[in-house]
Amino acid sequence: MDIEHVRSRFVKHFDGTTGAVYASPGRINLIGEHTDYNGGFVFPGAIDKGIVAEIKPNGTHTVRAYSIDLKDYTEFGLEEQDAPRASWARYIFGVCREMMKRGVPVQGFNTAFAGDVPLGAGMSSSAALESTYAFALNELFGEGQIDKFELAKVGQATEHNYCGVKCGIMDQFASLFGRKGSLIRLDCRTLEYAYYPFEPKGYKLVLIDSVVKHELASSAYNKRRQSCESVVEVIKQQHPQVEFLRDCTLQMLQEAKSGISEEDYQRAEYVIEEIQRVLEVCDALEKGDYETVGQKMYETHQGMSKLYEVSCEELDFLNDLAFDCGVTGSRVMGGGFGGCTLNLVKEELYSTFIENAKTKYKAKLGKSPKVYDVVISDGARRLA
Ligand code: GLA
Repeated sequence: MDIEHVRSRFVKHFDGTTGAVYASPGRINLIGEHTDYNGGFVFPGAIDKGIVAEIKPNGTHTVRAYSIDLKDYTEFGLEEQDAPRASWARYIFGVCREMMKRGVPVQGFNTAFAGDVPLGAGMSSSAALESTYAFALNELFGEGQIDKFELAKVGQATEHNYCGVKCGIMDQFASLFGRKGSLIRLDCRTLEYAYYPFEPKGYKLVLIDSVVKHELASSAYNKRRQSCESVVEVIKQQHPQVEFLRDCTLQMLQEAKSGISEEDYQRAEYVIEEIQRVLEVCDALEKGDYETVGQKMYETHQGMSKLYEVSCEELDFLNDLAFDCGVTGSRVMGGGFGGCTLNLVKEELYSTFIENAKTKYKAKLGKSPKVYDVVISDGARRLA
């Protein structure tokens, strides 16, 4: 994340003066996928890639925003009807609106931003963007009155209300609460969280980016969420205390089977098992048992591929390849429908695995995957 790059463009693009600089990271998630909107557990960490933005109030009611990477400039007002067309600008607009709904007197500002978190790779580039602006506007216009959880909800509400994705809270939470060297276990129902130092001796975490992003990923995502909610409605008829799939057991699901479509049944089965897997991985980590951690990652992949159906040919190929190379754990990470696999690899196997992944993926699918070593880093902050 390069401050000088952003600063030089900000100065050049606007009136030659400088503003305040903020940054927020993308995230990885060790385990716990599609569990957040089901009131379950997730286990993410912030990474060393994210968004950097320079911002300066301009004394008007207009936001003037420049995307350095896309070389695209737009201006918009701050009322509901002023929503910009460009999708990148809608994130910033949405954050402004959500902050205003929470009583922050947001005014016009000039801003330029850039990022090094790959777009559409399942590493939460959009949450990084939202968190950057939520954190910054809170300081610049709100005297820090909004707490970090509410800032995460600002990002989530931006996705829901301005970008059409009914996401959970994990990505924005990780981007704001990240801490160097630690993963964070979050209970998405109570919002209780705990930091777990993560420095696996003898292993590395590496992302292999399939460089595919499937169309309609956001509508398929929303559809998964709907499946989960309709299963809850059916189970609730027998168990009125149930609020989320988090509150359901496999037995309750089994008992409700006749009222649930086969597809929705499989979706719920995956989620109930996945919530349990997060807890098992936390236990294994505390004992330094990385073999179990890895095994659970493979189980997650199976579930995401066969039951939840959010994997794809390319990701399944990368997962099989990891298994064949003897990699300890591997799975599709994030929402799915493209993006990365997350791999827990023994250090001595690392170069063979990467070599293999590159050549075999290219030979089979005709494109080169990208490789990112995971460095667990700090969350949203002011840089200058
Ligand atoms: C996306 C969403 C998150 C979460 C993951 C899947 O990243 O933004 O809220 O649901 O998918 O775990």
